[in-house]
Amino acid sequence: MNILLTGGTGYIGSHTAVVLANAGHSVVLLDNFCNSNRSVSERINQITNQMIPCIEGDVRDTGLLVKTLTEFKIEAVIHFAGLKAVGESGQEPLKYYDNNVAGSISLLEAMKQVNVKTIVFSSSATVYGEPQYLPYDEEHPLNPINTYGRTKLQVEEILQDLAKSDPQWRITLLRYFNPVGAHESGLIGEDPNGIPNNLMPYIMQVASGKLPHLNIFGNDYDTRDGTGERDYIHVMDLAEGHLAALSFLQNHQGCETFNLGTGKPVSVIELLSAYEQACGQKLPTKLAPRREGDLPIYYAKPNKAKEYLGWMVTRGVADVSTSSYRWQQMRDGLAAS
Ligand code: NAD
Ligand code: UFG
Repeated sequence: MNILLTGGTGYIGSHTAVVLANAGHSVVLLDNFCNSNRSVSERINQITNQMIPCIEGDVRDTGLLVKTLTEFKIEAVIHFAGLKAVGESGQEPLKYYDNNVAGSISLLEAMKQVNVKTIVFSSSATVYGEPQYLPYDEEHPLNPINTYGRTKLQVEEILQDLAKSDPQWRITLLRYFNPVGAHESGLIGEDPNGIPNNLMPYIMQVASGKLPHLNIFGNDYDTRDGTGERDYIHVMDLAEGHLAALSFLQNHQGCETFNLGTGKPVSVIELLSAYEQACGQKLPTKLAPRREGDLPIYYAKPNKAKEYLGWMVTRGVADVSTSSYRWQQMRDGLAAS
């Protein structure tokens, strides 16, 4: 199949590109490089031993999308392109609604024009908000508590409406939990700008010596060891989830939602220990106050994805840590050279 990946040089897009290309699909990447750069596409080519087209462009440019969809005879789109910083989304809501919501409308408009009606959308567990019960299943009420989450929910609703308006649309909404880890080659991985907000990239920068210590945001939660618990999913498992979603859509019209998570919560201390094991050193930590807006614990019920997509995770925190460490060493080497 010919597949367009918007945001294809980003963290999740780049790993998905590798999985799809290795499965025999023809992949085209489109990215405006606002949170990535072109060298990622060269490294994807190196891993896959293919020359994957990479187009510089913005999803809000409907004309460019029509041209790209037509030129490459695209049959399905995976829509990763979006902004994802929760804090920034509260400070600059218009930027987030424009990029994430208007950007999605522009893409869907282009797809409709050229009659490409198969799409996989990158949604987030953040659409659930305060847990009414755990694990979250796909029926859990939706009540995002930040602007970023509301942009994701709005796009989900647009896609639901689109599927109702025209039965030819084939749509999956994939709600990712906490993606972590890197490709086993160490050539691609998460590469956030500035000081990371998220736990894993923060741990990696402490291990690199770029940051002095990890702040543990609270150890008095009602969890197994008092620190926050999350559902950390290896990015290669997540990437394989997209391959499974695309093959599901071959035989299904309409709009279907899936959690992509492991179903197993892991604490801050547990993830830190796994990384320390992989890098062979104890990392400095400091106890810090709870971070505002943090939930004590949340994790996925991944049963629906298993039943309908035949997908489940095969990697654990040890794989997450060894692959992240390999990526950290590669990146530190690049920075030093
Ligand atoms: P990322 O920032 O690494 O990748 C997103 C890519 O989209 C970047 O390469 C960026 O340059 C590009 N992009 C952004 N706006 C664009 C635009 N208007 N036009 C073209 N390209 C644009 O993020 P990621 O972690 O790979 O996330 C991919 C998707 O998954 C996002 O939609 C994100 O909201 C969603 N998601 C991520 C997480 C996570 O924790 N990483 C969790 C749940 C959902
Ligand atoms: N944490 C620390 N120290 C840090 C960073 C995080 O102790 O320096 C703790 C947090 O308090 C939390 C856990 O590590 O208990 C995970 O925090 P992350 O920031 O890595 O992940 P979140 O679950 O808080 O949020 C992430 C993304 C959101 C997304 C959500 C669900 O930031 O954008 O996952 O996908 F919506």
